[in-house]
Amino acid sequence: MDAMAEAPPISLKPADAATLTAKDVVVHFGGLAAIADVSLSVGRHEVFGLIGPNGAGKTTLVNCLTGFQAPTSGRVLLAREDTTGWKPERFRKAGVGRTFQAGRLFREMTVVENVEVSGVGLGLGRRQARMRALDLLKWVGIAAKADVIAGTLPYTDERRVGIARALMLSPAFVLLDEPAAGMSDAECDELMHLVSAIPKVFTCGVLLIEHNMRVVMGICDRIHVLDGGRTIAEGVPQEIQRNETVIAAYLGSQA
Ligand SMILES: Nc1ncnc2c1ncn2[C@@H]1O[C@H](COP(=O)(O)OP(=O)(O)OP(=O)(O)O)[C@@H](O)[C@H]1O
Ligand SMILES: [Mg+2]
Repeated sequence: MDAMAEAPPISLKPADAATLTAKDVVVHFGGLAAIADVSLSVGRHEVFGLIGPNGAGKTTLVNCLTGFQAPTSGRVLLAREDTTGWKPERFRKAGVGRTFQAGRLFREMTVVENVEVSGVGLGLGRRQARMRALDLLKWVGIAAKADVIAGTLPYTDERRVGIARALMLSPAFVLLDEPAAGMSDAECDELMHLVSAIPKVFTCGVLLIEHNMRVVMGICDRIHVLDGGRTIAEGVPQEIQRNETVIAAYLGSQA
Protein backbone atom coordinates (compact mmCIF):
# COMPACT_ATOMS: atom_id res chain seq x y z
CA MET A 1 0.00 0.00 0.00
CA ASP A 2 1.54 3.31 -1.10
CA ALA A 3 0.18 5.35 1.79
CA MET A 4 2.21 3.18 4.13
CA ALA A 5 5.49 4.41 2.73
CA GLU A 6 5.13 7.92 4.09
CA ALA A 7 4.50 8.74 7.68
CA PRO A 8 2.20 11.70 8.23
CA PRO A 9 4.00 14.75 9.55
CA ILE A 10 3.65 14.66 13.31
CA SER A 11 2.55 18.15 14.17
CA LEU A 12 2.08 17.58 17.88
CA LYS A 13 4.65 16.53 20.39
CA PRO A 14 3.90 12.90 21.16
CA ALA A 15 3.03 12.12 24.76
CA ASP A 16 6.01 10.59 26.49
CA ALA A 17 4.77 7.85 28.83
CA ALA A 18 6.65 4.62 28.16
CA THR A 19 4.17 2.09 29.54
CA LEU A 20 0.47 1.68 30.24
CA THR A 21 -0.06 -0.75 33.08
CA ALA A 22 -2.92 -2.49 34.87
CA LYS A 23 -1.86 -3.67 38.31
CA ASP A 24 -4.01 -6.18 40.21
CA VAL A 25 -7.16 -4.76 38.63
CA VAL A 26 -10.52 -6.03 39.85
CA VAL A 27 -13.90 -4.92 38.49
CA HIS A 28 -17.17 -6.03 40.05
CA PHE A 29 -20.57 -5.39 38.51
CA GLY A 30 -22.89 -6.19 41.39
CA GLY A 31 -22.05 -9.78 42.27
CA LEU A 32 -20.18 -10.45 39.01
CA ALA A 33 -16.38 -10.26 38.94
CA ALA A 34 -15.90 -9.11 35.35
CA ILE A 35 -12.17 -8.68 36.02
CA ALA A 36 -10.54 -10.65 38.81
CA ASP A 37 -7.02 -9.50 39.58
CA VAL A 38 -5.48 -8.80 36.19
CA SER A 39 -2.04 -7.26 35.66
CA LEU A 40 -0.51 -6.37 32.32
CA SER A 41 1.74 -3.73 30.84
CA VAL A 42 1.79 -2.43 27.28
CA GLY A 43 4.97 -0.88 25.87
CA ARG A 44 5.36 1.91 23.41
CA HIS A 45 6.94 -0.16 20.62
CA GLU A 46 4.65 -3.17 20.46
CA VAL A 47 1.32 -4.52 19.33
CA PHE A 48 -0.06 -6.18 22.44
CA GLY A 49 -2.93 -8.62 21.81
CA LEU A 50 -5.74 -9.05 24.34
CA ILE A 51 -7.77 -12.15 23.56
CA GLY A 52 -10.28 -14.50 25.15
CA PRO A 53 -13.84 -15.79 24.77
CA ASN A 54 -16.90 -13.53 24.70
CA GLY A 55 -17.52 -12.07 28.14
CA ALA A 56 -13.90 -12.69 29.24
CA GLY A 57 -13.57 -9.06 30.35
CA LYS A 58 -11.51 -7.62 27.46
CA THR A 59 -13.63 -4.51 26.88
CA THR A 60 -14.01 -3.95 30.62
CA LEU A 61 -10.23 -3.97 31.01
CA VAL A 62 -9.81 -1.52 28.12
CA ASN A 63 -12.44 0.67 29.80
CA CYS A 64 -10.27 0.66 32.93
CA LEU A 65 -7.15 1.54 30.93
CA THR A 66 -8.90 4.55 29.35
CA GLY A 67 -10.90 5.99 32.26
CA PHE A 68 -14.33 4.71 31.17
CA GLN A 69 -14.50 2.31 34.09
CA ALA A 70 -13.06 2.78 37.57
CA PRO A 71 -11.48 -0.42 38.91
CA THR A 72 -13.16 -1.76 42.04
CA SER A 73 -9.60 -2.30 43.28
CA GLY A 74 -6.13 -2.26 41.78
CA ARG A 75 -4.49 0.51 39.83
CA VAL A 76 -3.88 1.76 36.32
CA LEU A 77 -0.51 3.43 35.79
CA LEU A 78 0.67 5.60 32.94
CA ALA A 79 4.43 5.30 33.18
CA ARG A 80 4.73 5.59 37.00
CA GLU A 81 1.78 7.90 37.42
CA ASP A 82 -1.25 6.57 39.26
CA THR A 83 -4.37 7.42 37.24
CA THR A 84 -6.91 6.73 39.98
CA GLY A 85 -9.86 9.08 39.52
CA TRP A 86 -8.89 10.12 35.98
CA LYS A 87 -11.74 10.66 33.54
CA PRO A 88 -11.47 9.62 29.86
CA GLU A 89 -10.53 13.16 28.81
CA ARG A 90 -7.55 13.17 31.13
CA PHE A 91 -6.39 9.84 29.67
CA ARG A 92 -6.76 11.29 26.16
CA LYS A 93 -4.77 14.37 27.06
CA ALA A 94 -2.06 12.21 28.59
CA GLY A 95 -1.77 10.25 25.35
CA VAL A 96 -4.13 7.28 25.68
CA GLY A 97 -6.53 6.95 22.74
CA ARG A 98 -9.06 4.26 21.92
CA THR A 99 -11.68 3.02 19.53
CA PHE A 100 -14.98 1.36 20.41
CA GLN A 101 -16.62 -1.91 19.37
CA ALA A 102 -19.35 0.21 17.73
CA GLY A 103 -18.15 3.12 15.59
CA ARG A 104 -19.35 6.08 17.72
CA LEU A 105 -18.80 8.63 14.94
CA PHE A 106 -20.74 11.89 14.72
CA ARG A 107 -22.98 10.58 11.98
CA GLU A 108 -24.19 13.93 10.64
CA MET A 109 -20.67 15.38 10.32
CA THR A 110 -18.23 14.75 7.49
CA VAL A 111 -15.41 12.26 7.79
CA VAL A 112 -12.71 14.93 8.09
CA GLU A 113 -14.77 16.87 10.66
CA ASN A 114 -15.04 13.72 12.75
CA VAL A 115 -11.26 13.42 12.89
CA GLU A 116 -10.63 17.16 13.20
CA VAL A 117 -12.93 17.55 16.16
CA SER A 118 -10.86 15.27 18.32
CA GLY A 119 -7.82 17.53 17.75
CA VAL A 120 -9.80 20.71 18.41
CA GLY A 121 -11.11 19.12 21.61
CA LEU A 122 -7.51 18.84 22.77
CA GLY A 123 -6.63 22.42 21.98
CA LEU A 124 -5.33 22.33 18.40
CA GLY A 125 -6.19 25.30 16.21
CA ARG A 126 -8.80 24.67 13.53
CA ARG A 127 -6.32 24.89 10.66
CA GLN A 128 -3.74 22.68 12.30
CA ALA A 129 -6.43 20.16 13.21
CA ARG A 130 -7.72 20.09 9.62
CA MET A 131 -4.25 19.54 8.17
CA ARG A 132 -3.41 16.77 10.57
CA ALA A 133 -6.84 15.15 10.07
CA LEU A 134 -6.30 15.08 6.31
CA ASP A 135 -2.81 13.58 6.76
CA LEU A 136 -4.23 10.86 8.97
CA LEU A 137 -7.13 10.12 6.61
CA LYS A 138 -4.56 9.69 3.89
CA TRP A 139 -2.56 7.35 6.10
CA VAL A 140 -5.57 5.16 6.91
CA GLY A 141 -6.46 5.10 3.22
CA ILE A 142 -9.72 7.07 3.03
CA ALA A 143 -8.62 10.59 2.07
CA ALA A 144 -10.94 10.39 -0.94
CA LYS A 145 -13.92 10.26 1.44
CA ALA A 146 -12.91 13.25 3.58
CA ASP A 147 -16.04 15.20 2.69
CA VAL A 148 -18.51 12.34 2.85
CA ILE A 149 -21.13 12.41 5.64
CA ALA A 150 -19.90 9.89 8.23
CA GLY A 151 -23.32 8.31 8.73
CA THR A 152 -23.26 7.02 5.15
CA LEU A 153 -19.93 5.19 5.43
CA PRO A 154 -19.68 1.41 5.28
CA TYR A 155 -18.48 0.15 8.66
CA THR A 156 -15.11 -0.92 7.25
CA ASP A 157 -14.45 2.78 6.58
CA GLU A 158 -15.96 3.77 9.93
CA ARG A 159 -13.28 1.73 11.66
CA ARG A 160 -10.56 3.53 9.73
CA VAL A 161 -12.02 6.88 10.75
CA GLY A 162 -12.08 5.67 14.34
CA ILE A 163 -8.37 4.85 14.16
CA ALA A 164 -7.57 8.21 12.55
CA ARG A 165 -9.49 9.94 15.36
CA ALA A 166 -7.54 8.08 18.01
CA LEU A 167 -4.25 8.97 16.29
CA MET A 168 -5.18 12.68 16.20
CA LEU A 169 -4.06 12.94 19.80
CA SER A 170 -0.46 11.95 19.00
CA PRO A 171 -1.07 9.22 21.52
CA ALA A 172 1.51 7.14 23.31
CA PHE A 173 -1.01 4.26 23.27
CA VAL A 174 -4.07 3.33 21.26
CA LEU A 175 -6.47 0.65 22.38
CA LEU A 176 -8.43 -0.92 19.54
CA ASP A 177 -11.53 -2.94 20.46
CA GLU A 178 -12.21 -5.44 17.66
CA PRO A 179 -11.43 -3.00 14.82
CA ALA A 180 -11.83 -5.70 12.17
CA ALA A 181 -15.06 -7.28 13.44
CA GLY A 182 -17.30 -8.25 10.54
CA MET A 183 -14.68 -7.58 7.88
CA SER A 184 -13.79 -9.98 5.08
CA ASP A 185 -10.34 -11.60 5.24
CA ALA A 186 -8.99 -9.17 2.65
CA GLU A 187 -10.39 -6.09 4.43
CA CYS A 188 -9.11 -7.38 7.73
CA ASP A 189 -5.61 -7.96 6.31
CA GLU A 190 -5.50 -4.45 4.93
CA LEU A 191 -6.56 -2.91 8.23
CA MET A 192 -4.10 -5.01 10.21
CA HIS A 193 -1.30 -3.96 7.90
CA LEU A 194 -2.01 -0.42 9.11
CA VAL A 195 -2.38 -1.44 12.76
CA SER A 196 0.94 -3.26 12.75
CA ALA A 197 2.67 -0.12 11.43
CA ILE A 198 1.39 2.15 14.24
CA PRO A 199 4.20 1.49 16.77
CA LYS A 200 6.93 2.35 14.28
CA VAL A 201 5.23 5.20 12.45
CA PHE A 202 3.76 6.95 15.50
CA THR A 203 5.93 5.59 18.34
CA CYS A 204 2.64 4.46 19.80
CA GLY A 205 1.93 1.18 21.55
CA VAL A 206 -1.17 -0.71 20.38
CA LEU A 207 -3.44 -2.83 22.55
CA LEU A 208 -5.49 -4.90 20.11
CA ILE A 209 -8.62 -6.90 20.95
CA GLU A 210 -9.28 -9.25 18.05
CA HIS A 211 -10.96 -12.64 17.57
CA ASN A 212 -9.29 -13.58 14.27
CA MET A 213 -6.42 -15.75 15.48
CA ARG A 214 -4.59 -15.72 12.16
CA VAL A 215 -4.38 -11.94 12.50
CA VAL A 216 -3.53 -11.94 16.20
CA MET A 217 -0.76 -14.50 15.82
CA GLY A 218 0.53 -12.66 12.76
CA ILE A 219 0.87 -9.12 14.08
CA CYS A 220 1.07 -9.21 17.89
CA ASP A 221 4.44 -9.02 19.61
CA ARG A 222 2.92 -10.34 22.85
CA ILE A 223 -0.50 -11.72 23.74
CA HIS A 224 -2.45 -11.70 27.02
CA VAL A 225 -5.30 -14.19 27.38
CA LEU A 226 -8.32 -13.64 29.63
CA ASP A 227 -10.99 -16.17 30.51
CA GLY A 228 -13.82 -15.42 32.92
CA GLY A 229 -12.09 -12.21 34.04
CA ARG A 230 -8.82 -13.96 34.89
CA THR A 231 -5.45 -14.09 33.19
CA ILE A 232 -4.78 -17.57 31.86
CA ALA A 233 -1.62 -16.85 29.87
CA GLU A 234 0.71 -14.19 28.54
CA GLY A 235 3.50 -14.67 26.04
CA VAL A 236 4.71 -14.39 22.48
CA PRO A 237 2.39 -15.86 19.79
CA GLN A 238 4.24 -19.18 19.55
CA GLU A 239 3.88 -19.73 23.30
CA ILE A 240 0.19 -18.84 23.31
CA GLN A 241 -0.58 -21.05 20.33
CA ARG A 242 0.71 -24.15 22.08
CA ASN A 243 -0.46 -23.30 25.60
CA GLU A 244 -2.78 -26.15 26.68
CA THR A 245 -4.93 -23.96 28.95
CA VAL A 246 -5.45 -21.42 26.17
CA ILE A 247 -6.29 -24.12 23.66
CA ALA A 248 -8.85 -25.65 26.03
CA ALA A 249 -10.46 -22.32 26.99
CA TYR A 250 -10.39 -20.51 23.69
CA LEU A 251 -8.24 -21.51 20.74
CA GLY A 252 -9.85 -24.93 20.46
CA SER A 253 -13.13 -23.26 19.52
CA GLN A 254 -11.51 -20.87 17.04
CA ALA A 255 -10.29 -23.43 14.49
N1 LIG B 1 -21.70 -2.19 32.55
C1 LIG B 1 -21.85 -3.47 32.88
N2 LIG B 1 -22.72 -3.87 33.85
C2 LIG B 1 -22.85 -5.16 34.19
N3 LIG B 1 -22.15 -6.17 33.65
C3 LIG B 1 -21.27 -5.85 32.68
C4 LIG B 1 -21.07 -4.50 32.24
N4 LIG B 1 -20.13 -4.49 31.26
C5 LIG B 1 -19.76 -5.77 31.10
N5 LIG B 1 -20.44 -6.59 31.95
C6 LIG B 1 -20.25 -8.05 32.08
O1 LIG B 1 -18.87 -8.25 32.37
C7 LIG B 1 -18.37 -9.39 31.70
C8 LIG B 1 -17.21 -8.98 30.81
O2 LIG B 1 -17.72 -8.24 29.72
P1 LIG B 1 -16.82 -7.59 28.59
O3 LIG B 1 -17.71 -6.80 27.72
O4 LIG B 1 -15.67 -6.91 29.23
O5 LIG B 1 -16.28 -8.89 27.82
P2 LIG B 1 -15.49 -9.01 26.43
O6 LIG B 1 -14.34 -9.91 26.70
O7 LIG B 1 -15.20 -7.67 25.90
O8 LIG B 1 -16.54 -9.77 25.51
P3 LIG B 1 -16.80 -9.69 23.91
O9 LIG B 1 -15.75 -10.56 23.27
O10 LIG B 1 -18.17 -10.27 23.76
O11 LIG B 1 -16.73 -8.25 23.50
C9 LIG B 1 -19.55 -9.99 30.97
O12 LIG B 1 -20.11 -10.99 31.78
C10 LIG B 1 -20.49 -8.82 30.81
O13 LIG B 1 -21.82 -9.26 30.70
MG1 LIG C 1 -15.74 -6.70 24.17
